[in-house]
Amino acid sequence: MPRSVTSAQVVNVADLRLLARRRLPRMAFDYIDGGADAEVTLRENCRVYDDVALRPRSAVVAKSVDLRTSVLGTELSLPVLLEPVGSCRLFWPRGEAAASRAAGAAGTAYILSTLSGTRLEEVKAATAGPCWYQLYLCGGRDVALGTVARAKAAGFSALVVTIDTPVAGLRERDFRNGVKELLSNRPLAMLPFVWQILARPRWLAAFLADGGLMRFPNIVLKEGPMPYADVGAALEQSATCWEDLGWIREAWGGPVVIKGVHTADDARKTVDTKASTIVVSNHGEQQLDGMAPTLRVLPEVVAAMDNRVEILLDDGIRHGSDVVKALCLGARAVLVGRAYAYGLAAGGEEGVARAIGILRADLVRTLKLLGCPSVAALDASYVAVPPHWQSESR
Ligand SMILES: Cc1cc2nc3c(=O)[nH]c(=O)nc-3n(C[C@H](O)[C@H](O)[C@H](O)COP(=O)(O)O)c2cc1C
Repeated sequence: MPRSVTSAQVVNVADLRLLARRRLPRMAFDYIDGGADAEVTLRENCRVYDDVALRPRSAVVAKSVDLRTSVLGTELSLPVLLEPVGSCRLFWPRGEAAASRAAGAAGTAYILSTLSGTRLEEVKAATAGPCWYQLYLCGGRDVALGTVARAKAAGFSALVVTIDTPVAGLRERDFRNGVKELLSNRPLAMLPFVWQILARPRWLAAFLADGGLMRFPNIVLKEGPMPYADVGAALEQSATCWEDLGWIREAWGGPVVIKGVHTADDARKTVDTKASTIVVSNHGEQQLDGMAPTLRVLPEVVAAMDNRVEILLDDGIRHGSDVVKALCLGARAVLVGRAYAYGLAAGGEEGVARAIGILRADLVRTLKLLGCPSVAALDASYVAVPPHWQSESR
């Protein structure tokens, strides 16, 4: 196995995943890698791309290809944005700032999770690129209003509201790894699970030097920043409903992105919220197992929206060809979570840059092989989907 993210043997996201597994304690690696319940949808999110075949135009020589696109009026150097991933400081010191810096250097946007371990001001200051803020209502409306005001003042340019988290999903790996016990602060309960941490001394030293991660600095409750152990209950007590989107939009006063749309019906509902952009997402399958993979529902959402909003897609993107397939089926751009989180865990900012670099190189090569000059020129004629997909639009 290669030893670093810059090794020539790191050729794809799966290689970064292996490096992340080697560096992180099991509970941290499984937090990135795992999904909900039996992880059926988690596997499907990636596998579904195999169902879509590419249809190249031969004997077309595109010497250079144009990967640029724009989302919410912002020009990006490639149609891949970095998604909200909570607790990045568990993967790398000041992980959120390292990821935002890499995104900006690559000419794309970074979306900061409410469940960040780094102050939002520091994350924004770290990048020259666009930064969006992802909102959970943890702690209630007043706490959220305070954070939204801070995000606005810091220069975040869009607010991403995640609507698929009424409760935390059942992540079985967390139970097996003793996450609850490790957060309990009770030495006897922690004891059976500390081996995984002691087995990764380099990670542990870096984690402790970074101050550990026990509180969320962007969820400021009356008693101070929210403790890490309270996440599940906080999500459940303050789940976002359609009715909330009105006051959130008003408080923000800028473009709102709704993340977690999964059916044509919900996509139509977003029109009333005046959202600028929607994300077809099943939350990396960390929530509800048994849903259809997002690529599978993208055509029904695209048909229902009829160009009224920009449609983004996430889940399961590991290769540039996955990005191409999603764009051919109507996504304006895609978002990636694990693809860069593995890179971050494997090598910090450099690892994130490597993940983006791999996807960028894949995209260039795939477009050239397809005989397509730009991502803007991609359309349904470059792919073939199984016949039964077409008869299922609602
Ligand atoms: C470790 C981890 C943490 C996540 N944290 C958040 C979060 O705080 N807020 C959110 O809206 N989505 C969160 N997500 C979901 C991602 O934003 C995204 O929907 C998902 O990772 C996309 O799938 P992919 O990982 O296959 O690219 C998280 C995903 C992972 C893997």
